[in-house]
Amino acid sequence: MKSLHDVVKSADWKSEKHVPVIDAPESAKAGDWVEVSATVGKEIAHPNTTEHHICWIALHFVPDGASISYELGRFEFSAHGQSAKGANEGPAFTDSRVSIRARLLVPGTLFATTYCNIHGLWESSRRITLA
Ligand code: FE2
Repeated sequence: MKSLHDVVKSADWKSEKHVPVIDAPESAKAGDWVEVSATVGKEIAHPNTTEHHICWIALHFVPDGASISYELGRFEFSAHGQSAKGANEGPAFTDSRVSIRARLLVPGTLFATTYCNIHGLWESSRRITLA
């Protein structure tokens, strides 16, 4: 193994519940605020239980021609039904969906990465063009 990238998985989100689905406009006006969301389990629900859950989702933006990414945000999901009473007996659960607003000045590619405590790292991407 050469790098962590070698174990980051990706697949078709319609058949694989771990792939983060990025929802964002295909095109926007440069400088306008756009809604960007990432959901794990959009088509096939992820369990999100004490034993098996999504720990975090991060969103990055890579401008066309850039050699680095810019982190737009990172969200940790902390409630998975854990409790002193036992697993899945707690009063709160979180679903693996996050939504932000971003103002982009150049076109590029949005990337979402996520981590399942059992199934590891996953990623997806979505291009956004600007007018
Ligand atoms: Fe999982």
